[in-house]
Amino acid sequence: MASGNNGLLLSRVASGDGHGENSSYFDGWKAYDMNPFDLHSNRDGVIQMGLAENQLSLDLIEEWSLSHPEASICTPQGASQFRRIANFQDYHGLPEFREAMAKFMGRVRGGKVAFDPDRIVMSGGATGAQDTLAFCLADPGDAYLVPTPYYPAFDRDCCWRSGIKLLPIECHSSNGFTLTREALVSAYEGARLQGTRVKGILITNPSNPLGTVMDRGTLAMLAAFATEHRVHLICDEIYAGSVFAKPEFVSIAEVIERDVPGCNRDLIHIVYSLSKDFGLPGFRVGIIYSYNDAVVACARKMSSFGLVSSQTQYFLAKMLADDEFMARFLAESARRLAARHERFTAGLREVGIACLGGNAGLFSWMDLRSMLRDKTPEAELELWRVIINQVKLNVSPGTSFHCNEPGWFRVCHANMDDETMDVAIDRIRCFVRKYQTNNNNNKRKAAAAERWAASGARPLRLSLPRRGGAAAASHLALSSPLALMSPQSPMVHAS
Ligand SMILES: Cc1ncc(COP(=O)(O)O)c(C=O)c1O
Repeated sequence: MASGNNGLLLSRVASGDGHGENSSYFDGWKAYDMNPFDLHSNRDGVIQMGLAENQLSLDLIEEWSLSHPEASICTPQGASQFRRIANFQDYHGLPEFREAMAKFMGRVRGGKVAFDPDRIVMSGGATGAQDTLAFCLADPGDAYLVPTPYYPAFDRDCCWRSGIKLLPIECHSSNGFTLTREALVSAYEGARLQGTRVKGILITNPSNPLGTVMDRGTLAMLAAFATEHRVHLICDEIYAGSVFAKPEFVSIAEVIERDVPGCNRDLIHIVYSLSKDFGLPGFRVGIIYSYNDAVVACARKMSSFGLVSSQTQYFLAKMLADDEFMARFLAESARRLAARHERFTAGLREVGIACLGGNAGLFSWMDLRSMLRDKTPEAELELWRVIINQVKLNVSPGTSFHCNEPGWFRVCHANMDDETMDVAIDRIRCFVRKYQTNNNNNKRKAAAAERWAASGARPLRLSLPRRGGAAAASHLALSSPLALMSPQSPMVHAS
């Protein structure tokens, strides 16, 4: 059925494009789906580096579940609990699950802060948590301010059903994309000038896509700003347990207790999930932890729409309560994430490609600004298409994260084995070396052409465009490496 007809039959929300599937972020996934890489059966396929998935420590969870058959209600050791768990449908969730979760959240935050199990509300992943929070906190047309670059699916998760909008707080590479008070005030004032009511500030700490943690001072500034202007502060801490190097992670929970004495806690909400730190996105375990009683009460009623299966709660309650395993898991996971991050970034350094200095998350924020034809989003997408179609890596362009500086790409490196990682690194190195060789050759040719032009030699005219003369030719040479590439360049065949 044509979408125009659907427009008549379905609600405006359902027939609109609020899902954001036309973002380039999802296009990359489609390219992968059509030709997925496989080490043994399709070595020429597209390698998925667009998925922030953590496969590095799943073996530890598998081992744990094998040695704890009582954690499953479908084994002889756990079957005595089958009826109780299968019948359970209270949207408060299993008490033992909320207790274990609260304890675990404290552990991940270095034991510096305690969480109250009664403030934990369950949702279908962090995705469901954001949808629920937007429902509770804002009305259609209201806005959240979000520092850029930010996780693309926020546009769907926060806005699709609620009808709110996200307005960017512009951050820049000059200070490592650190959020400043000036940028926040400018976004806030800008929204008010437009007549938009700001209901919240949404941050991700550690950041997706930057892979960096937010410092205590910035968090305190945000909490103070939220209190002063009576706006909510929503902190997505989904990567809290995936910090693998210094500086250490600081949770907003700790900051409001220690650093912002007059903070209005009714405005503070944490989103968490087990999708990333444990690599369990299929379990759909999301958490809203709100300091606001009314939000907890409303979100809890809403949780009937996306409650975590009681079987999953039961299993996780047992696993999260195993202190010895949790300590070992978190330490080993951090070690593996650090090793993978180093393997990837060192591989890129060999060909002079840098990433933003990150210490968290499942990805790197790769700087390919020097490879752009010009500093435009179009040039970034052009380069991205080459990387997808020729280099066959599904990385995600910065524009899809609302980054205002073209040339940055998010590359996920925790969702594959070492061998696939090595193939991916080889492909990037090969691509960059080809680009560098072509670029150097072309620069040499351009310099020679310019010397000829300066000496007034006649043959130059043969190589110039029909219109524009020497000035146009030299402009082309300097501003457009693509225009000067040989036909062998991997960038010439961009589709
Ligand atoms: C910052 C952030 N929040 C939320 C999500 C969604 O997580 P979940 O699978 O728990 O819905 C992701 C997934 O990539 C994410 O990176």
